[in-house]
Amino acid sequence: MKTSVILAALSLASATPIASSSAVFEVSITFNGVNGASFSQNFPADDSLVAITNPLNVSSIASVGGGFCTFTGVDGSSVVLDGEQTVSVSPPQPQKWGSCQTA
Ligand SMILES: *[C@@H]1O[C@H](CO)[C@@H](O)[C@H](O)[C@H]1NC(C)=O
Repeated sequence: MKTSVILAALSLASATPIASSSAVFEVSITFNGVNGASFSQNFPADDSLVAITNPLNVSSIASVGGGFCTFTGVDGSSVVLDGEQTVSVSPPQPQKWGSCQTA
């Protein structure tokens, strides 16, 4: 009986969200694919390098603003977004890494 109470308390503790009070501002980025598909990913505006795992072949990258971001493609493309804008990836290619900071 006591054991099950302790286990319940432990599982509650581990389900507690981590550090939700010290929220880092995140930049929402949309990746537009050559085939018309798109996906979005959030990047913390703290200059950290974030892996982009979606394999979509990306032809342009759009930001709704709020940050300064750079993206690197699998074939070496480099795209810089400064605030709210859409920039083409040339030639189109899947994206590998992104990082944002406050503008
Ligand atoms: C992505 O699309 C471009 C343009 O259509 C094409 O040249 C390139 O080979 C594609 N890359 C991949 C990984 O599918």
